[in-house]
Amino acid sequence: GQQYQLHSTVVLVGMMGSGKTAIGRSLAASLEVPFVDSDAAIEEAAALSIAEIFKRDGEAFFRERESEVIRRLLTGPPRIVSTGGGAFLAERNRTAIDQMGISVWLDADLQTLWERVRHKDTRPLLRTADPKATLTTIFHERTPIYAKAGLRIPIAAEASIEETTQTVVDTLA
Ligand code: S3P
Repeated sequence: GQQYQLHSTVVLVGMMGSGKTAIGRSLAASLEVPFVDSDAAIEEAAALSIAEIFKRDGEAFFRERESEVIRRLLTGPPRIVSTGGGAFLAERNRTAIDQMGISVWLDADLQTLWERVRHKDTRPLLRTADPKATLTTIFHERTPIYAKAGLRIPIAAEASIEETTQTVVDTLA
């Protein structure tokens, strides 16, 4: 455990593959607070995978559920929340997060992100003819929005989950 005591909920934001879920879980364990992944909470409530929700109900429906889940997770005792990569794009979500918690951007470079997502087929937004080009476009569109987060953690490609977790704790403290 860490000496640092969390006073408000930390919401991890950033691109697909930036490590929000892995870092979030590790950070919560280290700070001895609960951890919730918003995508997992949406999947659980719907009893469907994210890909299935996108396919059946569309992205707009998913974004509504995502906003609801985020608002709910921001009320209650301090904890660590990891979000899906699109969660911080909606202004209503950014406002809620920054009023009731702290947004922390896991800022990884494009090459690192691509290496991490290229072997997975779980992300509906990357089911395109050229997923690398799609990721590149999304990366450039979103970077200025993620930059609005309260804190930025540069993610070194070679850094371990433990090292990055420590960097987040040091930045929060
Ligand atoms: C999305 C990222 C995904 C998931 C959904 C949409 C996005 O989460 O919420 O596929 O818009 O970037 P991860 O960031 O955990 O992959």
